[in-house]
Amino acid sequence: MNLIINNGLIATSEDLFYGNILIENGKIAKISTEQLSNDYNYKVIDAEKNIVMPGGVDVHTHLDMPFMGSFSTDDFYTGTVAAAYGGTTSIIDYVIPQKNQSFKDAYLTWQQKSVNKAVIDYGFHMAIVPPVDFEDFKSIKKLGISSVKCFLAYKNSLMIDDNNLHKLMAACKEHNILLCVHAEDGNNIEELTNKYLNQNKTEPIYHALSRPSELEGKAVNKVLNIAKQTTTNVYFVHLSTKYAIDEINSHKNFIFNIYTETCPQYLIYSQDMYLKNNFEGAKFVMSPPLREKEHKDYLINSIKSGDIDVVATDHCPFNFYKEKQCGRNDFTKIPNGIPGIEIRMPLMYTKLVNEKIININKFVQIFCTNPAKIFGLKNKGDIKVGLDADICIWNTNINKKITKSMLHENVDYSPYEDEKISAIPITTISRGEVIVENFNLTANAGRGKYIFRE
Ligand code: URP
Ligand code: ZN
Ligand code: ZN
Repeated sequence: MNLIINNGLIATSEDLFYGNILIENGKIAKISTEQLSNDYNYKVIDAEKNIVMPGGVDVHTHLDMPFMGSFSTDDFYTGTVAAAYGGTTSIIDYVIPQKNQSFKDAYLTWQQKSVNKAVIDYGFHMAIVPPVDFEDFKSIKKLGISSVKCFLAYKNSLMIDDNNLHKLMAACKEHNILLCVHAEDGNNIEELTNKYLNQNKTEPIYHALSRPSELEGKAVNKVLNIAKQTTTNVYFVHLSTKYAIDEINSHKNFIFNIYTETCPQYLIYSQDMYLKNNFEGAKFVMSPPLREKEHKDYLINSIKSGDIDVVATDHCPFNFYKEKQCGRNDFTKIPNGIPGIEIRMPLMYTKLVNEKIININKFVQIFCTNPAKIFGLKNKGDIKVGLDADICIWNTNINKKITKSMLHENVDYSPYEDEKISAIPITTISRGEVIVENFNLTANAGRGKYIFRE
C-alpha cells in the first residue's frame, strides 16, 4: 500500500511538527518537513494541518467472549470496525479457554472468531484459568502469544488460587511471558456478596460495595510479594484505586518490571453511577467496579505523574435491555463489562490533552507507544520510518456530545453518552490502507492480520 500524507501536524511519542509522510508497501518510508515528490503517482491525502497521530493500540479487549451466561456482543468484525472509527488500529484480545481445554485449542477457537472478520491487526493474550495445566503452558509462546492473564476474582470460575498463582509467576519468569493480573480478592468478595444477598440487598450499588477499594491494594501487594521471590514482570490490568498505585510505587525499586493500566471509566466516573434510577446503574457494572471519587482524581494525577503506563478499554459489551437485565433482581447476575473500544481515544484526548492534564506526546505514549512496546507489537505504536503505517488524521476542533447513534459498537448503549468530545479521527490508515475515510468505512472484513508476538 503506497500513499502520501501531506501537510499534517505530526504527533509522535516525542515530537510535534508540521510535515509529510511517505508510505510504501504498508510501511512508513519517509517523514519530512519538506514537500515530498510523488514520482510514482501515489494516492495523496491532504491532512490540512490537522493532527496526524499513530493508530491507537488497545491491549485489553473481550470480543465475542463467553462470560457469565452470555457472549460479549461485539464480535471481531463489529468490534474492530468500531475501533477503527475511534482511531485504534491494533488490539490484543483475551483468549479464554474452556475448562480443561488445551491452550492450542482455545487459540484455534479465537482464530476462528477473528480470521475472516477483523478489519484491524490483532494479537491474543491467553487467560490462565483453573485447573492450570503447567505442562501445556510451554505451548503458549509457539502460538505467538507472549502474555497471559490470571484472575484473582470470579471465584469458582476464572479465579486462580494462591498456590497456582505462585507456580504461574515462576512459569512466566521461566518462559519469559508477561503476566497480566486482575487484582481483586475473590474470597473476600464472595463473603461480602453473600452477606448482601442474605440481607436481600440486590441492587447494582451492591456490586461496588461487595468489592471494597482496599481489596485491590491487598491483591497487588500479594502479587508483588511473590514477584520479589520469582522476579516475574507484572502488568496490572484495569487498576481503579489509589491503594493499588501506592502499593506499586512502594515496590518500584525491585529487579522486575511493573506495568500499570487503567481504563477511561475509572478516570471519569465514580460509584454513585450505580445509584441511577430504573436499574441504569447496571450499565456501569464491571469488575473492578467504579470507586469513590477520590480514586478517580488520584488516577488522573497518576497519569500526569507517569505512574500509569497504559489506558486500555477492557471493552466487554453487554446490552442493557437484554443481557444486563439478567441481574434485575440480583446484582451478581449482571454480566460484568462495559463498551468503550470506539470512544477511548476521542474521549481521553478531550479529558487529558484538551484539559491540559498531559501534552500530546504523552498521550501518544499512553495510548499507542507504551502498550505496543510492553506487549511486543514491534511494528506498531509510533510514527517512525520502518514501522507499519498505522496512522490517523484527527479533527481536534469539534465540540460534540457522545450519542449512542454516532457509535458503531454492537450494543444498545454507551456508558459515555452525553460526555463531550473535542476530537475525532477523520481518516484511519492501517498498514498504508485507508480503512476509514471521511467517516466512512472502506475496509473489508478479514483484512486485519494476526500479530505473532515473540
Ligand atoms: O468486568 C469486566 N472487566 N469484564 C471483563 C473481564 C475482566 O475481568 O477483564
Ligand atoms: Zn479483569
Ligand atoms: Zn478485561
